[in-house]
Amino acid sequence: MNAPDRLHSKLEFIDLKAQYAALRDEIAQRMQRVLDHGQFIMGPEVRELELALEAHTGAKHCVTVSSGTEALLISMMALGLKPGDEVVTTPFTFAATAETIVLLGAKPVWVDIEPDTCNIDAAQVAAAITPRTKAIMPVSLYGQVADMDEINAVAAKHGLPVIEDAAQSFGARYKGRRSNNLSTLGCTSFFPSKPLGCYGDGGAIFTSDDALAQAAREIRVHGQSARYTHTRVGVGGRMDTLQCAVVLAKLGRLDWELERRRAIGARYHELLAGLPLQTLAVRPDRDCVWGQYTVRVPRREQVQAALATAGIPTAVHYPRPLHRQPAYEHFGDPDACPNALAAAGEVMSLPMSADLRPADQDRVVAALAAALAA
Ligand SMILES: Cc1ncc(COP(=O)(O)O)c(C=O)c1O
Repeated sequence: MNAPDRLHSKLEFIDLKAQYAALRDEIAQRMQRVLDHGQFIMGPEVRELELALEAHTGAKHCVTVSSGTEALLISMMALGLKPGDEVVTTPFTFAATAETIVLLGAKPVWVDIEPDTCNIDAAQVAAAITPRTKAIMPVSLYGQVADMDEINAVAAKHGLPVIEDAAQSFGARYKGRRSNNLSTLGCTSFFPSKPLGCYGDGGAIFTSDDALAQAAREIRVHGQSARYTHTRVGVGGRMDTLQCAVVLAKLGRLDWELERRRAIGARYHELLAGLPLQTLAVRPDRDCVWGQYTVRVPRREQVQAALATAGIPTAVHYPRPLHRQPAYEHFGDPDACPNALAAAGEVMSLPMSADLRPADQDRVVAALAAALAA
């Protein structure tokens, strides 16, 4: 496409096509190898990927599973979560975070977010702990880890495990360490649009606890400790060999992509400075891989409509916090968490991917500036 055409075309919200073009041969070879050996379930690529991701995150164990949702569910099953237990978490997240708690008969206990990062406010976590609390589950929203040291300290005081919902933050760094390797368990998603994605559903659990890793490995195969020996209740939660092959094919480009995401996020921050909107804060001791590049804007619906007219897709992550969702509003006070309520009315995500071109990013910013000035 030549430059003038590009100016008027619709931008991709997440440009997976450019990534595929760059990795086409590697992906084809990797997938072909699986088609040739035919071990579609628990083939050699599964362990190969787990070893590579253990090395990348620094966690002792990686257990691949069928999705990020399943990673959360299996993690909490491995911890022995039971009906009546409570899990302290944020309402400003994707439904899977709370869904998995509720599926096990437990109760999500909401803690409000920080308005400038939209991550759980670690200073409010201690007050949410009761004798029934069995875990704390912060979410590394938009690709930035929450105040994990503070959360781990509160957890240690009460003898509680911490599960990082790292579905949006694979590769993010926090005080020299990687997301997914910062607490008892880390759970990520390989949904295609995530910082590390496959071509379907996939996910992984990370832990350095041998017993939890063993439990997770058994739970993902129907609780089997040996073939047809069902030691515990489990699920069908394996990640397909073909999907593992896709992720393996992407690993050679991963660090470059993570750097690009950080740089594109930083460039958005610079270009948007001075406009009447709020960019999100990135704390100095960590980085953000921008699973979504999200800002807070006034008059969001009008701004989104103006951007859509200019061919710029946007999204809202998330329009209604979970403590206001019909399925979850009976868990606690729907009027609690004022920061989450305010953020839900203002957040808007802009096109973001490692392959976003500077000219296209300029176009997004120019259209946004015009929409805000209208
Ligand atoms: C914060 C969060 N948690 C959990 C999930 C669930 O991941 P998956 O879609 O792979 O099941 C997602 C994915 O959208 C997410 O954004």
